[in-house]
Amino acid sequence: MSNDFSTPLNRKGTASLKWQRYEDQDVIPMWVADMDLPAPAAVQKALQQAVERGALGYGEVPQGLVEAFLDWCQQQYGWQPEAEWLVWLPGVVPGFNLAVEALTDSQDQLLIQTPVYPPIRVLGKLRDRQVQDVPLRAPVPGEKQWSLEVDTLAMQLQPKTRALLLCNPQNPTGRIYSRVELEEIARLAEDKNLLVISDEIWADLLLEEGAKHLPYPALSDAAAQHSVTLMAPSKTFNVAGLSCAVAIIPNPELRVPFRKAMRGLMPDMNYLGLLAAEAAWKEGHDWLQDLKQHLNSNLDLLETWLKDPAYPRRQLIGYCRPQSTFVAWLDVSPLELDNPYQTFLDAGVALSPGEAFGDDRYLRLNFGCPAAQLLEALQCMHQAIKA
Ligand SMILES: Cc1ncc(COP(=O)(O)O)c(C=O)c1O
Repeated sequence: MSNDFSTPLNRKGTASLKWQRYEDQDVIPMWVADMDLPAPAAVQKALQQAVERGALGYGEVPQGLVEAFLDWCQQQYGWQPEAEWLVWLPGVVPGFNLAVEALTDSQDQLLIQTPVYPPIRVLGKLRDRQVQDVPLRAPVPGEKQWSLEVDTLAMQLQPKTRALLLCNPQNPTGRIYSRVELEEIARLAEDKNLLVISDEIWADLLLEEGAKHLPYPALSDAAAQHSVTLMAPSKTFNVAGLSCAVAIIPNPELRVPFRKAMRGLMPDMNYLGLLAAEAAWKEGHDWLQDLKQHLNSNLDLLETWLKDPAYPRRQLIGYCRPQSTFVAWLDVSPLELDNPYQTFLDAGVALSPGEAFGDDRYLRLNFGCPAAQLLEALQCMHQAIKA
């Protein structure tokens, strides 16, 4: 592997959200979804050149960035949006908030599936819309993955259900929805006149052998016409601090009001984010292959730890191998700890509490880090559960 994913990064005192929260404690932060791994060399070079020039004024989306993104879509997903469908944004979270604000009205209901990324879970509250939650179904013995129960979802639709928030690949379960599931969603959306807001920020971090991302608007013309799809380089290339994302909105009846709602509220695109995104999408292919290999090997380490026959308590932890992402969703309820988050924190490892995602039986572990850091964190977890 030509890229280095093993050197520890000391991010203490660097204004990092992940590290600053526990700065005064002797704790390994394995929570928020950014990686303790360096961005691709091409991205670092583009940023270094900008910093050396010294002028860090306003940016504007360059043609090169648009082309790099379209080529990336072609190469990664075998599909290309049209350039005019793209609306550049400072983040995916502002993107789905804006879509709800601009494209639904206050009487409309939103449909979500928990467990889910906390800003999706609180979307209804923030935007003052009623929310229906049709939870994903956890795997039963013999099943390997969480299920998106489209039939249940269809039965629970209310007359006022107007928008469905899809997170694919799914955070925190790592599920990649199949073509069949997505087509069922698209048919339902078509029949019931629903808007689908598809958060695809994890689209490029598919860890399962042979998996291919299916962008929602690529399913059919109808799916393209009733959807807003959100993508970004931020998770894939570890540039989440540079605020760069893009909405794909093929239907002008959705795109025009979406753009209109942005006026005066959305900041200009981050100058460094534009440069980083272009470099990443142009030159990041090989780096991404190496990263996925590294993440799979970290997952193997985690599984070996969980299944170690010498430590039966570890085997109580419910886990299924995520098909994507760099987070693992762990059911720690069989350990019967009073406060699992605090127990692990006291033992020196900060995980994300499942409550924020809608299920307090779980903790989320971010394994996007050097192997040595993951092993150190697992050692702390070992102390916590006395396994
Ligand atoms: C599903 C999902 N959407 C959006 C985001 C963040 O998006 P942004 O930082 O572009 O607002 C994350 C970050 O973890 C995520 O997991």
